[in-house]
Amino acid sequence: MSKKKIKLGILIQGPGGHMNSWKSDEVPADGSINLNHYIDVTQKAEQSGIDFVFIADGLHINEKSIPHFLNRFEPITLLSTLAAVTKHIGLVGTVSTTYSEPFNIARQFASLDSISGGRAGWNVVTTPLEGTASNFNKGNHPDHSLRYQMADEYLEVAKGLWDSWEDDAFVRNRKSGQFFEREKMHRLNHEGEFFKAQGPLNIERSKQGQPVIFQAGASKTGIAFAAKHGEAIFTNKATIESAQEYYRTLKEQAVENGRKRDDIAILPSLSPIIGATEAEAEERYNEIKNLISIEEALNYLGRYFDHFDFSQFPLDEAFPDIGDVGKNSFQSTTDEIKQMAKEENLTLREVALRVATPKGEFFGTYEQVAYKMMEWVDHDAADGFVIVMYVLGKQYDDFLNHVLPILEEKGYYNRSYEGDTLRENLGLPFIKNRYVKKASASI
Ligand SMILES: Cc1cc2nc3c(=O)[nH]c(=O)nc-3n(C[C@H](O)[C@H](O)[C@H](O)COP(=O)(O)O)c2cc1C
Repeated sequence: MSKKKIKLGILIQGPGGHMNSWKSDEVPADGSINLNHYIDVTQKAEQSGIDFVFIADGLHINEKSIPHFLNRFEPITLLSTLAAVTKHIGLVGTVSTTYSEPFNIARQFASLDSISGGRAGWNVVTTPLEGTASNFNKGNHPDHSLRYQMADEYLEVAKGLWDSWEDDAFVRNRKSGQFFEREKMHRLNHEGEFFKAQGPLNIERSKQGQPVIFQAGASKTGIAFAAKHGEAIFTNKATIESAQEYYRTLKEQAVENGRKRDDIAILPSLSPIIGATEAEAEERYNEIKNLISIEEALNYLGRYFDHFDFSQFPLDEAFPDIGDVGKNSFQSTTDEIKQMAKEENLTLREVALRVATPKGEFFGTYEQVAYKMMEWVDHDAADGFVIVMYVLGKQYDDFLNHVLPILEEKGYYNRSYEGDTLRENLGLPFIKNRYVKKASASI
């Protein structure tokens, strides 16, 4: 079997992906707003050849939100700073299509893409939390399918605006006084159901043409959206079987949309818990698990269900029947949690602790985890992974120093960057400007 190179991203959720990672003395307690911490993590990732860093985001908090969400940087601002202290690594951030305007966001990502020399990626989300509506002038929170309809039109507009200028439109000829070629400037003139944008956008295309579109749709509507627009896809899949099913469905739907299978990279999230021995890995797991109380775990669980209050139910009885709660929020995740509770006959306490600190398949020795990663990639469950360290401290160093070398030695990983742009490093095609009819657009 030919070996696929494993693509890797690292999610920087401030001090770490665990809700109480800030309590660990391996990371700064203010890691969510500590620029040096972000720079450290990013530069380490770049030295190890990781393809991109990823900054997630949301637009609504309350007193029950996890600590990182209460006080964190806005992604594009942060990524622009990281662009200045790195050379190769991709810079990916979340922005909502439900609570922003395509012209602004197309412009901001085009700017990040140019500032970084073609390393930008946009994680397109439709925003699950209903409370977000209270922070904007847009009326009620649109329902799940309407949000995806809006996102579809939004992306058509953003992509259209990114083609406002052909790649060689700005001639800047001092002798003749010509700054740009008029016929290489294009107006989109979009007036649709949800958005209006005449264009042109006031920034040129970057070295990679357009920023890479990341997406994490998991529901039926979400998968259809990802298959149409997504180029790098995140997913939370706990087992190789569920990841394979997702992989197959998404690639098939992408092909039905006239795309090639390789035009879309599927990157499940991976939270490694590792050690030189299994006993050491178990010790590390216990350290992470002990960062959280049961009350905090209930809050964490409730957030997926639009801040539903689970504390009203007995902890040691079967997971409660809560009907459709969660359907208009993190739909696919909440469906999976309900199903898991039912199938495994779990109590509320067990569900909350498991959701807050899942042990997952990527637990064990460095070798075991490296082999597990190779197995997923060999068996069409993944093209790579987004690493979500519970705590971005010692375990992160262990992953870079002990797991990556095994992948390298086996020919599954290459720590030198193959290309200059995020697209090249993820093996994704350059997006040609729609107005350029010739086969070879100059870049
Ligand atoms: C790895 C990963 C990262 C995500 N990051 C964000 C994020 O930063 N902001 C956000 O609002 N949603 C985020 N989501 C949620 C997705 O956007 C999406 O709402 C979720 O996967 C449910 O899919 P569905 O809307 O198709 O049901 C993320 C999901 C995954 C799996």
